[in-house]
Amino acid sequence: MKTVTTISSLREHLKDWRQCGQTIALVPTMGNLHPGHLSLVELARTLAERVVVSLFVNPTQFGPGEDYESYPRTLDGDQRQLMRAGVDVLFAPSVAEMYPLGQQDSTVVAVPGLNRILCGQFRPGHFDGVSSVVTRLFAIVQPDSAVFGQKDYQQLSIIRRLQADLHLPIRIVAAATQREADGLALSSRNQYLDASGRASAPAIYRSLLACREQLAAGARDFARLEAEGHATLVAAGLRPDYFAVRRAADLGEPAVTDRHLAVLAAAHVGRARLIDNILVDL
Ligand code: PAJ
Repeated sequence: MKTVTTISSLREHLKDWRQCGQTIALVPTMGNLHPGHLSLVELARTLAERVVVSLFVNPTQFGPGEDYESYPRTLDGDQRQLMRAGVDVLFAPSVAEMYPLGQQDSTVVAVPGLNRILCGQFRPGHFDGVSSVVTRLFAIVQPDSAVFGQKDYQQLSIIRRLQADLHLPIRIVAAATQREADGLALSSRNQYLDASGRASAPAIYRSLLACREQLAAGARDFARLEAEGHATLVAAGLRPDYFAVRRAADLGEPAVTDRHLAVLAAAHVGRARLIDNILVDL
């Protein structure tokens, strides 16, 4: 595996592969890799002959007072894991390489509507940072396919929307959420949890499962289900931002006749902000 930090050196590899007619899959990450990220790489290897992983802690998707500075940066360990996982090239650019005009003057790609609801309401500007950097990565790598985790379902929905809206010839592939044995979704931010936070955090997944069970049993009073989910998280000692039942297709408010739903939650546990979701097909 080669690690490259500039767009021009990345493009040399891409050009060679393209000349041989090889297909390319991209896995965007912010590093500090865990088995959830590696499952994306594994899936990417089944989609294309070459796999590029990007590792970039993107400053534009962090709000003031969020964890941009303290976000764990573990390049050496990440490189070792990606090498073992069979990645061809790791693209680990600097902020200046990704935003040569500076963050203020760079082109912004925003997905209206979807960027303001749920997590977007609590993290203003976050999804514009995500859609902008992912578009930039798509333009740099021009992959045939790109893999994203269902764990970040709103992010995945936004990327699907921008791919379709901009007619990008890239197949967006979703990977299942990888979890700890007690159900907690793997996340780089789990390491912010102390022992008591770690013990209460699985309440998020349990509350999602409980909601799914009620939906499967015929419950359709979404406001009541949301209030119950919220209360369950509070009772477990978490500080929820939201607990929401939405249409899976576009994250809109569901009608009682909708059959494909997503239940999504975000909650603070100590200094960690954790998110999770499950899909419900009725
Ligand atoms: P990051 O949080 O590093 O996540 C990179 C990818 O791994 C995302 O597609 C995310 O959904 C996926 N992922 C994280 N935890 C997972 C889990 N437990 N199971 C399966 N997949 C998981 O998401 C980002 O980075 C950034 O916003 C990025 C898309 C790279 C843009 O900067």
